Amino acid sequence: MKKLWSLIFILSLYTQVFAQPRTQINFNYDWKFKLGDEPEAKNIAFNDDAWRKLSLPHDWSIEADFAKEHPATNQGGALPGGIAWYRKTFKTPSNTLNKEVSIQFDGIYQHSEVWINGVLLGKRPNGYISFQYDITPHLKPVNQENIIALRVNNSEQPNSRWYSGSGIYRNVKLVITNPIAIAQNGVFVTTPQVSAKEATLKHQLQLQNTSDLKSPLEVEVKVLNAKGKLVARNIQTVPVNQLSGIVTQNLNVKNPALWSPQEPNLYQVITKVYQNKVLVDELKTTTGIRSFRFDVKNGFYLNDVPTKILGVCLHHDLGAIGATVNVRAMERQLEMLKAMGTNAIRTAHNPPAPEFLDLCDKMGFLVMDEAFDMWKKRKNKFDYHRDFEEWHERDLADLVKRDRNHPSVFMWSIGNEIREQFDSTGTKIAANLSKIVKLHDNTRPVTTALTETEPAKNFIWKSNALDVLGFNYKYFDYDSLPKRFGYIPLIAAETTSALQTRGVYDLADTLRLWPASSKDKFVVNGNPDYTVTAYDNVAAYWGTSHEKAWKAVKDRNFMSGIFVWTGFDYLGEPVPYDFPARSSYYGIIDLAGFPKDVYYMYQSEWTNQPVLHLLPHWNWQAGKVVDVWAYYNQADEVELFLNGKSLGKKAKTTDELHVSWKVPFEAGTLKAISYLNGKVVLEKEIRTAGAPHHIVLNVDRNKLKADGNDLAFVTATLVDEAGTIVPDADNLIKFTISGAGQIAGTDNGYQADLSSLSKPNRKLWKGKALAIVKATEKSGKIVLTAQADGFKPVSINIKTK
Ligand code: GAL
Repeated sequence: MKKLWSLIFILSLYTQVFAQPRTQINFNYDWKFKLGDEPEAKNIAFNDDAWRKLSLPHDWSIEADFAKEHPATNQGGALPGGIAWYRKTFKTPSNTLNKEVSIQFDGIYQHSEVWINGVLLGKRPNGYISFQYDITPHLKPVNQENIIALRVNNSEQPNSRWYSGSGIYRNVKLVITNPIAIAQNGVFVTTPQVSAKEATLKHQLQLQNTSDLKSPLEVEVKVLNAKGKLVARNIQTVPVNQLSGIVTQNLNVKNPALWSPQEPNLYQVITKVYQNKVLVDELKTTTGIRSFRFDVKNGFYLNDVPTKILGVCLHHDLGAIGATVNVRAMERQLEMLKAMGTNAIRTAHNPPAPEFLDLCDKMGFLVMDEAFDMWKKRKNKFDYHRDFEEWHERDLADLVKRDRNHPSVFMWSIGNEIREQFDSTGTKIAANLSKIVKLHDNTRPVTTALTETEPAKNFIWKSNALDVLGFNYKYFDYDSLPKRFGYIPLIAAETTSALQTRGVYDLADTLRLWPASSKDKFVVNGNPDYTVTAYDNVAAYWGTSHEKAWKAVKDRNFMSGIFVWTGFDYLGEPVPYDFPARSSYYGIIDLAGFPKDVYYMYQSEWTNQPVLHLLPHWNWQAGKVVDVWAYYNQADEVELFLNGKSLGKKAKTTDELHVSWKVPFEAGTLKAISYLNGKVVLEKEIRTAGAPHHIVLNVDRNKLKADGNDLAFVTATLVDEAGTIVPDADNLIKFTISGAGQIAGTDNGYQADLSSLSKPNRKLWKGKALAIVKATEKSGKIVLTAQADGFKPVSINIKTK
């Protein structure tokens, strides 16, 4: 008897240790690609030997040259769309025997159709949605070859108001589970009750079963803190007849470490499903314990602390690497925004990559997760309005179910500037969309970004569709909003739309609107080189300066927060110009990731770290009267000195978030000193640059993971002998690379630079250019070299491991 028991024990240990309850395989490798339509490619017998080999994620549009006839970036053309095919041959893995196998796509732009071994699995029009197909019935026996073929159609243009990218631009996975398993997105963790002493963690589970199950299951839920220590545990038996329902377990966490942007404390929830004591599935879910609420009068509260939402809108492209999802590129963007004081992101105007939300959880950003830019009424001839009717329910449900465990996600936006608003046919649709969201998550408010401040045109008229009203622009109407909508919380869902090119300085006179009104499509008296001054005084007619937009929200407690349009410049929408301008001017940070001056206005307002920033540069013609601005905080005044001579002290007024002087130019040194109660806080100097002398290379990180994805961002700057940046330098830099890396793209932030962003040669813009270096999968050394005519080549070393 004893022997039998020990045998059973060893057997159960064996099954627990060696039987993999769930396997996830990275499916990004060994794909073949062909641009152009190839209908026969869905068939097994098709020969793809001549096709290009590549790894995913991949965006084919970004590889092309900018050209006017290319339609895929809104307004006047820029990058191409098209139809393309992807194929992958793979052997059925041995661990798929008696298992369920699905292929998961995080996002394909757009209208994808997927075949396995010649059988159509399905199509998905939406380019931003994650979806999967069950491939179990179609798989060949273990070790035999299968063919996955995909057709991606981004040929009907225009279909987007911004650069979408084209192709399988997000990750692909193969997921293998047992017949009894946790359903896709089947774990839902919420924190219905939160205090500093204790939190209730509610765990809801949906199972799936394709087997003939006769015995009950056991579900074990464990909660681990950031150090991996067990803080709560619960086990529940699920009778066979309750298998298709939701299994709910409540757990108590004592003295929880709350999640917030300042302290993004996370917990791991481990869900284990046992059948006859054998582990059949296991899943880890990251969660954060936090509470929040909106108050009609006082705005937003996070964990009971009044918190202004300091947000930016972001489009999904990552500059020179296009739409290709890359964790390091997203992390770099978020690092810069964090340092600026940003605590929230609006994912304009589509679902983000799942990795983006992981980063927001970890780094501490609140996220307004947005579903749609249009419903039934179009913004562009070929956009999602054509698919809305058939797909909106599925798309929205899939989005909510995928993202509802992220502590960062705090609001669902069901739309941006929806056209149905203007005739209020949208009220019914809004109510329906809100219902879909609430069915899958009733813990977060539903909002939409509205352009109309007439109550009859905001979807809540005769409906309770929206929990928070988001208004785009209309800052001059803010004071009327509480009177019109007294019972509902408000947020500035989109503001600003100021326009700037990094490093360009025209006169800083009064606010200029480019284009000036809805009658002018493009700017009439713009700059011949398609630039816009970087003093904060130009905006599209529906927007205003950064200072004005922020002050309108800052000064009003009932506005729970702001989302500035935009954190980064993005490809497409080059208002106020047309082609050859090809990327936006709205960013606080340019497309290459170099901050514009206004970055420091936000930093001075949104952080407590001492800031003193002086603009412009100090290379002008003798006698020119130059507008000199300083952004500062933690001080009560700033004194300006030109070549040692004081030009006087200034303090900010209630109207302006900077101080300024008009200074007749004289070469030399301009210096600012900020004081608090007469004591020096910070000093800042800018100098007149002499002749360009050498190139300087700086890298953000010189040790990379050798994982085929990690990136180093290398900045090339042209400086004079003393190391001062030459502010107008536009020399061509040739980047070359050797060793364990490749150049993934180059950029300089100039909105009208037409050379392809994936090429290694880049002109400096205002003294700077960027090369993005991608590690291969081999550890080793990378040497990146920058050369320019007339200068010594310089190199930088990067290690990969
Ligand atoms: C808004 C719109 C954004 C963007 C912006 C540019 O009205 O919601 O998507 O187009 O204008 O200023």
